[in-house]
Amino acid sequence: MSVTVYVPRDSAALAVGADRVARRIADEAARRGLDVQLIRNGSRGLFWLEPLVEVRTERGRIAYGPVTPDDVPSLFDAGFLSGGAHALHLGPTEEIEYLKKQERLTFARMGVTDPLSLDDYRAHDGFRGLRHALTLKPEEIVQQVIDSGLRGRGGAAFPAGIKWKTVLGAQAAQKYIVCNADEGDSGTYSDRMVMEGDPFMLIEGMVIAGLATGATQGYIYTRSEYPHAIATLNEAIRLAEAAGHLGGFKLEVRKGAGSYVCGEETALLESLEGKRGIVRAKPPVPALAGLFGQPTVVNNVITLASVPIILARGASYYQDFGMGRSRGTLPIQLAGNIKRGGLVEKAFGVTLRELLYDYGGGSASGRPIKAVQVGGPLGTYLPESQWDVPLDYEAYAAIGGVLGHGGIVVHDDTADLSKLARYAMEFCAIESCGKCTPCRIGSTRGVEVIDKITLNLNGPQQVQLLRDLCDTMLHGSLCAMGGMTPYPVLSALNHFPQDFGISPVRAEPVEALRQAQGERREATSRSG
Ligand SMILES: Cc1cc2nc3c(=O)[nH]c(=O)nc-3n(C[C@H](O)[C@H](O)[C@H](O)COP(=O)(O)O)c2cc1C
Ligand code: SF4
Repeated sequence: MSVTVYVPRDSAALAVGADRVARRIADEAARRGLDVQLIRNGSRGLFWLEPLVEVRTERGRIAYGPVTPDDVPSLFDAGFLSGGAHALHLGPTEEIEYLKKQERLTFARMGVTDPLSLDDYRAHDGFRGLRHALTLKPEEIVQQVIDSGLRGRGGAAFPAGIKWKTVLGAQAAQKYIVCNADEGDSGTYSDRMVMEGDPFMLIEGMVIAGLATGATQGYIYTRSEYPHAIATLNEAIRLAEAAGHLGGFKLEVRKGAGSYVCGEETALLESLEGKRGIVRAKPPVPALAGLFGQPTVVNNVITLASVPIILARGASYYQDFGMGRSRGTLPIQLAGNIKRGGLVEKAFGVTLRELLYDYGGGSASGRPIKAVQVGGPLGTYLPESQWDVPLDYEAYAAIGGVLGHGGIVVHDDTADLSKLARYAMEFCAIESCGKCTPCRIGSTRGVEVIDKITLNLNGPQQVQLLRDLCDTMLHGSLCAMGGMTPYPVLSALNHFPQDFGISPVRAEPVEALRQAQGERREATSRSG
């Protein structure tokens, strides 16, 4: 009888030798005359256990990991095809604590199915949301998304349903759905995992968005650094179209060159139009005049990938997860100096401390954790006193922080926060699109000022200058690139002044961050 063995095809698993492990398993099975069916699944997101090999048994799927090619003969000797004991034996996959304690809604199929098998997708609730959407009027689909409380997972947390409503209400011969799969934030990979591990879910979400708004053409804009995601998506689109799942909806993948600012929605649209990725002034908002001047939904991968389950299970099912105005779940990505890096999907409300220790197991170096950057390169550095704040958009805004795309980068006590603050300014100088002065010039001046502070050249005056500069960038930048670079800089300065060679300072600038966030939110809600 054939035994099914799963070896992930996700880039994170490939990077640590999953292909070689798969080949070795196939060779060893052939040599022993055993009938093994190899399935290349997505990753479960337990990266420290990759390559994580699973075997389907009568007791469910049994996991082994991390497996190297040299482990394979001993796994066969130990009878791993029937779940036998071995040093790498991890027991039933679903019982692994890291996985068991999660609330996997969007990532429910991740690592379970063969990403390119439509049969597998259908067998695991695939296209259920689309089937339901096909029975509804566009306004009813939009209302479901509004009622679910889903907010954009790309960073700005704008309500997805409200954006869709604007596009639905716009009159135009052509409307577009653009999926923002640029995923430039440090320590993030949830978009990539979806594209590589469950691409039909994203396709289903985009087709539903098309039905809801009247858009008939979709683009997935991703970066050239994601070759596996691009190949998998192209194949998935071909398969879904051939099987008639797209209806009349046309869907294409577009590859950007990997510029951070091309993740900003208007720069992305410029790039999609074949131009240089420069930020557009708003208004007009993309929902009214987006791609080629037409009404356009721009949503992050996770936002769109969350739609099928909302349509399949109902808005209130999704809305029941989370806290306050942060509804549903967030796929949190643990990275940096962390022992058990990987993807943790949890309802909003989980704390950083739980993520760092219960899931992450502390730092990889074994040293005390000093600072955690949440929300990408423009996110704040959080000291230990803030690790019990629940992950919730409003609770984070209250401490001058952001959740962004759910990326968490951990630093131990050897980190020098003045260097990280300098890097934030340098990053902005490199990635700035150059359209506005506070960002283009301010970031370069910021590097110089931080250098003067750390060299103690007229320190107190330079600290004041840095604060003034951050104030100008916060309030005077056209987009969040320049507007949020002060977040990592000021949080580093305020919480870790000793790293800059200065004594503890007043906490007043958190107020400045909070105020700037309020202004930014107001601008976003005006824009949609
Ligand atoms: C500099 C910059 C980079 C961004 N990069 C991304 C990105 O890589 N992916 C993304 O989804 N959103 C990114 N955003 C946010 C987008 O502008 C936009 O808010 C998002 O695509 C809207 O989708 P959502 O509502 O589903 O989050 C970025 C914003 C800025 C200012
Ligand atoms: S803030 Fe920076 S990236 Fe944004 S428009 Fe201005 S120059 Fe361009």
